[in-house]
Amino acid sequence: HLPVTAMGPGVRDWGRLLLTVTAVLTLPMRPPGSWGAQIIGGHEVTPHSRPYMASVKFQGQHNCGGFLLRARWVVSAAHCFSGRDPGTGLVVLGAHALHTVEATQQVFSISAVITHPDYQPTTHTSDICLLQLNSSATLGPAVGLLGLPRRGARPPRAGTRCKVAGWGSVSDFEELPPGLMEAEVRVLELDACNSSWKGQLSPAMLCTHSGDRRRRGFCSADSGGPLVCRNRAYGLVSFSGLWCGDPKTPDVYTQVSAFVTWIWDVIWRGQHGPQPRTTGGRQALSEPQQHRVHH
Ligand SMILES: *[C@@H]1O[C@H](CO)[C@@H](O)[C@H](O)[C@H]1NC(C)=O
Ligand SMILES: *[C@@H]1O[C@H](CO)[C@@H](O)[C@H](O)[C@H]1NC(C)=O
Repeated sequence: HLPVTAMGPGVRDWGRLLLTVTAVLTLPMRPPGSWGAQIIGGHEVTPHSRPYMASVKFQGQHNCGGFLLRARWVVSAAHCFSGRDPGTGLVVLGAHALHTVEATQQVFSISAVITHPDYQPTTHTSDICLLQLNSSATLGPAVGLLGLPRRGARPPRAGTRCKVAGWGSVSDFEELPPGLMEAEVRVLELDACNSSWKGQLSPAMLCTHSGDRRRRGFCSADSGGPLVCRNRAYGLVSFSGLWCGDPKTPDVYTQVSAFVTWIWDVIWRGQHGPQPRTTGGRQALSEPQQHRVHH
């Protein structure tokens, strides 16, 4: 079982593409649908009914999701930014059909990416980052905030119904969905999920499955998007198996409740602490690990 991050097209996707091609050549044909690379088994949401949803774009292309936590802060997955220059990234808020011109859209550049200091690309541990936008979003009907779990909150119990949304592409060839898609999934017990993943999971993760025989979950380019349970972000899309929605490799999220203190600390420091030095070029500072954008 090979973990595949749910990131959009990019350098790291060549591995996935290669695996897909290899799999096509070596595996028996799968029923249509198991190929789909959008939110799997979901539906298009009412436009702007999830006003906290953010799209992270690189080179004009949707790459990852995220959610708006404060007017100037978006939460996303750390792997979305590994090996990328955040200076080339944009955050789009207030979108429904990303590829069309929408008056509700607000576009921001990214002033800072604060990656969790314990993030490990190989194991996907602590796959979370905070994006500081270049200015504050204007909140309104199409752009709004999503709350975190309370400090010290436990992750939702197994069986809890939650929703995952994203603009993940609708095919392995980077087609976009008609609008924001969403699927209802159920929290899966971490032990069971860990067994499916051959013991590769760490404690600050959260898994979901469809809870029935249908395939439902996330796929390419949904990374960083929130898993919403009881109107709060309890998960961030992190990785899944080669086949999206495959019950053998349940969807894995970053367990947001384990990072609440870190998130508020970063935001507090961003607002009240000394401004990080702006030096030429990007730098990986420690504690917190930061990639500053060269202005
Ligand atoms: C923020 O970035 C966006 C996108 O690059 C740009 O259009 C906007 O003017 C910037 N806002 C400020 C206040 O610099
Ligand atoms: C997953 O299983 C492995 C191997 O048994 C174990 O080392 C690891 O701690 C487990 N992870 C979780 C989150 O329980």
